[in-house]
Formats: sequence, C-alpha cells, structure tokens
Amino acid sequence: SMVELNGERQSLRERIVAGAPAAIERQHALGKRTARERLDLLLDENSFTEVDLYRRRGATGAGPGERRPHTDGVVAGSGTIEGRRVFVYAQDFTVFGGSLGESHAAKIHKVMDLAIATGAPLIGLNDSGGARIQEGVLALHGFGGIFRRNVEASGVIPQINVILGPCAGGAAYSPALADVTFMVRGTAKMYLTGPDVVEAVSGERVGHDELGGADVHGGLSGVATVVHDDEESCLADVRYLVSMLPGNNLDPAPAAASRGATTQLRPRLADIVPAEPNQPYDIRAVVEELVDDGEFFELHELWARNIVCGLARIDGAVVGVVGNQPLVLAGVLDRAAAQKAARFVRFCDSFNIPLVTLVDVPGFLPGTEQEHGGIIRYGAQLLYAYCEATVPRIQVILRKAYGGAYIVMDSRSIGADLSLAWPTNEIAVMGAEGAVNILHRRELAAAADPARLRARLVREYTEEFMHPQYAAERGLVDDVIDPADTRSAVARGLAMLRDKRSRPPQRKHGNVPL
Ligand code: COA
Repeated sequence: SMVELNGERQSLRERIVAGAPAAIERQHALGKRTARERLDLLLDENSFTEVDLYRRRGATGAGPGERRPHTDGVVAGSGTIEGRRVFVYAQDFTVFGGSLGESHAAKIHKVMDLAIATGAPLIGLNDSGGARIQEGVLALHGFGGIFRRNVEASGVIPQINVILGPCAGGAAYSPALADVTFMVRGTAKMYLTGPDVVEAVSGERVGHDELGGADVHGGLSGVATVVHDDEESCLADVRYLVSMLPGNNLDPAPAAASRGATTQLRPRLADIVPAEPNQPYDIRAVVEELVDDGEFFELHELWARNIVCGLARIDGAVVGVVGNQPLVLAGVLDRAAAQKAARFVRFCDSFNIPLVTLVDVPGFLPGTEQEHGGIIRYGAQLLYAYCEATVPRIQVILRKAYGGAYIVMDSRSIGADLSLAWPTNEIAVMGAEGAVNILHRRELAAAADPARLRARLVREYTEEFMHPQYAAERGLVDDVIDPADTRSAVARGLAMLRDKRSRPPQRKHGNVPL
C-alpha cells in the first residue's frame, strides 16, 4: 500500500541521514564534525533543502559486491544565512573518505549551476580523499566540471570554500579559484602532491601540516584567506562574511541602517599616527576608528602583513579597506603585498563594494630578491586592478606617499574619485634626503660643510615639494582634512558616490599581467 511504501521510504531517508555510526565515531575522533553537523552550524535553523539525497554510483562500472552508498559522499543543497539564500555542498568523509566520483561531482555541479542561475553565493565545505581512485578518469572529469563552473561563476556570485580535512591533488584547485578560502588548524591540509610523493620524487621528508597545513597556507603561500582554530568559530565567521557580501554582481553590497558616522569626530586618530614619518604604528588601529563598532573582516591577515585588506562597514555601508601597514616592513609594497591587494581590489570591484585606500607607503621593497622575482609584474597587477575598478574609490593619505607606490595606491591619476589627505602628508617622487642627494650631488661633494648644506636643502625641499597643500593646490588631493574628521569625511564621500555608474568599453577581457 501507499502507506507502507511511504514508511519504507521514510526509514531509508532516516538511515541515509543518520549515516554509519562507526564512521561518524571515527570522524569525531579525528577532531572533525560530520557534513550534516557542519551544515547545522553554517545555516539558519531548519533552512536546509537537500538535493540528490538518494543519488549514488551508477550500477554500471561498479564491480560485483562493490558498495554504492546513497549521497555518494557529499551533502548538497541550499539554505539561508541570516535569511539570505546560499547554495552549499559539504563533502562527507564518512562515505568513501569524501572522495569525488562521478555522481558526487554531478551533485556539486548541480548546486553550482543553481547558485549561478539564482544569483546566490556558493559555499563548499571540503573534506575529501580527492579523486575516487576506483572511478578513474570519470573522477577527473568531474573535477574539471567543478573548475569550469568556478570560473564561470567568478565575479558573478561570491564563492567561498572551507577546508575542514584533506583537500589534495586536483581538489585544491576549486578553493584556489574561489573568492575566499578558510582553513582550520590541525585538520585542514592542502597540497598538490602529498608527503609520500614528495619523498619518493625528491627525497625530501615533510609532514602533512608542514607541507600544507592552515598556517602554511594562511601565512606563507597565501592560498588560505582566513585561518581558524576550530570548526565552530570558522563556520560562524563564514556566516559573518556572507552578511557583508551581495548575492551576486547585479545586487548592491548589503547596507545596514546609518550609524551617524557623518557627524562623528574621532580625535584618537591624530594620536595613533605619529607625525615622525619613520615611526611605526598599527594601521588596524586607524581602521578601528574609521569603521562602525569594530565591523572589520580581515582577509589574508597572516600573509603579506605589510598591507592590510578587509571588508568593513562605515555608516552601515559595506566597504573594502586597503591600508599600508607601517608595523611590518615599514609598510613597503613587495610582491606578496601587491598581489594580495590586487586580488582584494578586484574582489571588491566584482561585487560592488566601494574601496577606501589608506596610504602611508615609503615605496617598493628594493633588492634583487624582489626585482628578480618579478616585483614589476606584481606591482602592475595592483595598478591594473585599481585602474579597472569602477566602484566608488576614496583615497586617504595619512602620512607619506612616495613615487610609484603613491601612484599605485589609488591616486587621483589612476581614478580615485575622492582623495583626502591629512595635514602631515608628504606626497613626493621620493623622500627629502634621497631627493637632495640626487638633485645636489655635485654641490654637496664640493661643499665645505656638506652636512649643513644638506640640512638646509632638505628643509627647502620639504617646504616646497612635500608641503601638504602642494598636491591640493594642483587638484591631486580634494581636501586636506583634520584627522579627527576622517570617519565623517569618508562617510560623506561614500554617500556622495553611492550611485556611481560606469560603462566600460566592450572587449572580451583585459590582459591583466598575471
Ligand atoms: N579514492 C577512494 N577511496 C578513498 C580515497 C580516494 N581518493 N581517499 C580515501 N578513500 C577511502 C579510504 O579507502 C577509506 O575507505 P574505508 O573506510 O572503506 O577503508 C576511507 O576513504 C577513509 O580513508 P583513510 O585513508 O582511512 O583516512 P585517513 O584519514 O587515514 O587518510 C587521506 C585520509 C586523504 C590522507 C588518505 O585517504 C589518502 O591519502 N587518500 C588518497 C589521496 C589521493 O592521493 N587522492 C587522489 C589524488 S586527486
């Protein structure tokens, strides 16, 4: 009867959802939650709609007696985060080690297609042994289909990957194509070739964590954007990130109610930044004063720490903040910093998030290591990213802005809509000492008292070329502002630029110097 059939179906569903107790126990013993427990943490309560629960390996191709568990090792579907729609897949390590076979891949393809079609963020929770060995080239074909969709979705919907277990070989490329990749310390591992292969090929002996743990990718390679100690805080942070992103590139960035920023003075700002140009300070303390109640989500916090990038709210509106960090390497731009900022600028521009650039930069890092490593190419990426960005762009020059680094940090010349400078600013081709040594080399060599002459020339150069009004008088800075007024000036600038539109000329795509 219908009642009996329905009863059988219900108990099958319950068995599939419950999973295998021994495998779940092992998963917990590894310090990991199950796919469904993770989705419970990620999504609003009772919001999950699952697709393809019953899907499993095709009967053809599977040898006699081979297992064909339902779900095929991945839980896929859609739910909400703070009421906003997202699509998700969570690999289930308790089924075939979360390895990716043909059906598993087809389920991921399905939620990716739905996310693109409906214009909602895609979140992948990765915990997998990689390509399912017994499905051969079909598993590889499945991976390719994910990567192609990652690229199709790039700049259309936000893509987030959360690495909560192994993510090895080709599997690592989907998170690498995503906008933001989270990793959890201790359990997450990413590498193209594991420790065994490394040893076999080169004799080098290295552990899993040392090769591709969360700190390696968060701090050294830049593959991970955000690193966490545990799954709970990690998934809570994913929810926070989603709250700051639009569903897709046609939606505006989310805005909350105004926080009265346009009238608020922040007198502490003048104390945070020392007037003496070589004194370090933490740019994050400046950011803290500019944004609404600590609303700052830093990306790549542990990598290229000489530049700080993060999403923030100012007067309720989401903005992307880029700031030189004088606390690390005096805030110079090097390869990693330029690439980190370039990727962040393009991410913000894709998703209609205005850019606020805080400038305090002594220049590019000199030396053969940087030059031979292609700093020119990396600096060009940052330049390209800013030039191309059509979102509202506000530059704030806090202290120094020298040479090529000044141009690259969203100067007026490359398209900043509004440029504000503190009265202490020094904008010039180079610092006074260096400039005087070049301009007056012969005079200084011939002088009876070169030290005295140099001091006078430095003073003259500083007064004439590095005077705060110099750039403002020439239209390269819109206003010289009281530091305490910065939050208010930025908030008013953002309000002024909110409806900015632009229509770039038709072309297939630019040739960004990757
Ligand atoms: N294909 C098929 N099955 C796989 C698999 C894969 N790529 N990776 C893991 N599994 C299975 C294991 O056979 C095991 O099955 P069982 O429970 O029936 O015995 C189960 O998943 C759990 O794997 P196990 O090795 O016991 O877990 P672990 O935590 O000790 O190790 C890995 C995890 C990922 C390090 C290990 O499974 C591994 O090295 N897998 C292969 C990775 C790889 O090279 N993939 C291909 C490259 S794309």
